[in-house]
Amino acid sequence: MRKLKVGMIGGGGGFFGKVHHRAISLDATREVVAGALHQDPALCEKFAGEWGVAGYPDYQAMIADWKAGNLELDYVTIVTPNFLHAEQAVACLEAGLPVMCEKPMCYTLKEATDLKALAKRKKNVPFALSHTYTGHQMMMLARELIKQGKIGDIRKIETYYNQGWLATLLEKEGNQQASWRTNPKMSGISGCGGDIGTHALINALWTTGLGLKKVSAKLTALKGRALDDDFNVFGELSNGATLVLTATQIAIGHKNDNGFRIYGSKGSIEWAQEQAEELHFLDGATRVTYYQNSFVAETPDIVKSYGRIPSGHHEDFLEALGNLHTSLERKIRVIKGEKDVPPAYDHPGIDEGVLGMKFLTAAVNSSKKKGAWTAV
Ligand SMILES: NC(=O)c1ccc[n+]([C@@H]2O[C@H](COP(=O)([O-])OP(=O)(O)OC[C@H]3O[C@@H](n4cnc5c(N)ncnc54)[C@H](O)[C@@H]3O)[C@@H](O)[C@H]2O)c1
Repeated sequence: MRKLKVGMIGGGGGFFGKVHHRAISLDATREVVAGALHQDPALCEKFAGEWGVAGYPDYQAMIADWKAGNLELDYVTIVTPNFLHAEQAVACLEAGLPVMCEKPMCYTLKEATDLKALAKRKKNVPFALSHTYTGHQMMMLARELIKQGKIGDIRKIETYYNQGWLATLLEKEGNQQASWRTNPKMSGISGCGGDIGTHALINALWTTGLGLKKVSAKLTALKGRALDDDFNVFGELSNGATLVLTATQIAIGHKNDNGFRIYGSKGSIEWAQEQAEELHFLDGATRVTYYQNSFVAETPDIVKSYGRIPSGHHEDFLEALGNLHTSLERKIRVIKGEKDVPPAYDHPGIDEGVLGMKFLTAAVNSSKKKGAWTAV
């Protein structure tokens, strides 16, 4: 099988580009072959050399070389700070290159709705949004169990993402990731909300298939910080049920403590990413634990197809991100006319990206009005 060829924008010397690089390589069916890996053209060359890929001074040059037939690419992964995603995604889609784009999808809601209009026109050019946690098999299973009616009608969702790494003004100490995340010019209208609140939101809504009608929010920040680092939202879901979402980056001791509790009329489902290989179902009399890769009858084959190793050996964050790449890969292979490609499981895309930006806009506006209920 021919490996899919991937180009990357951003990632050189940064955090998440290297994580994508590993997730892309995970199944030996895809490989990073080129990149515009840094904003400084000289460093682009350096990092491309270290990665052993073709280096380009900027993404325009990489796309131009692909268009000229000098470079093979099947899709592009965008791993730059938030304010750059939209222009880079637009350039890829316009050129006909499928995209794996980092979240939050854009810097503004307008960019997101414009990108959606473009993606609609380019409907044969797949677009995936890297809400990593939705790639976990146990998240897929939770979604399937809810679709099968296992917990009945959803009455309430608690979804959370607690971190502590911004409990001090780390950005003043030159920390690269903290610097741009707390800078409104690079991050967007919300810091913590954009960075991890959108994960908590999409984890809940993608799993349940529910929408969000309105929110009441309280956002705060440490003194000396321009964007929120504590992001608390009440929401009304499309079925009238209540959403309680908390995302924080000042919870000392918490690393990547995210997950959800979904309460229905027949039972509850709980998942926590720091024990990502387990999914819990509670019906009042019993608490049942589903284990990754030891599937029960309710598990569709499409979910099983995302497993790699026998249960009890660990599959986690890299595999979850790899699974999102796998879904994009399967779609691309089908479009290219390859036979016997397993079906792609649903993954976040343009719609979730727009939803994330609408959510952030409504939450920021609500918080400015002391928590006034605000339509999403
Ligand atoms: N899905 C997830 O779980 C997850 C986790 C972490 C980060 N992220 C997202 O990934 C993105 C990057 O975050 P990070 O933590 O890796 O930040 P980072 O600062 O570590 O990396 C950003 C990279 O972009 C590069 N860059 C900046 N401007 C560029 C330009 N004009 N052209 C090319 N490259 C440029 C930087 O050199 C750096 O390599 C953000 O959107 C963030 O929200 C997602």
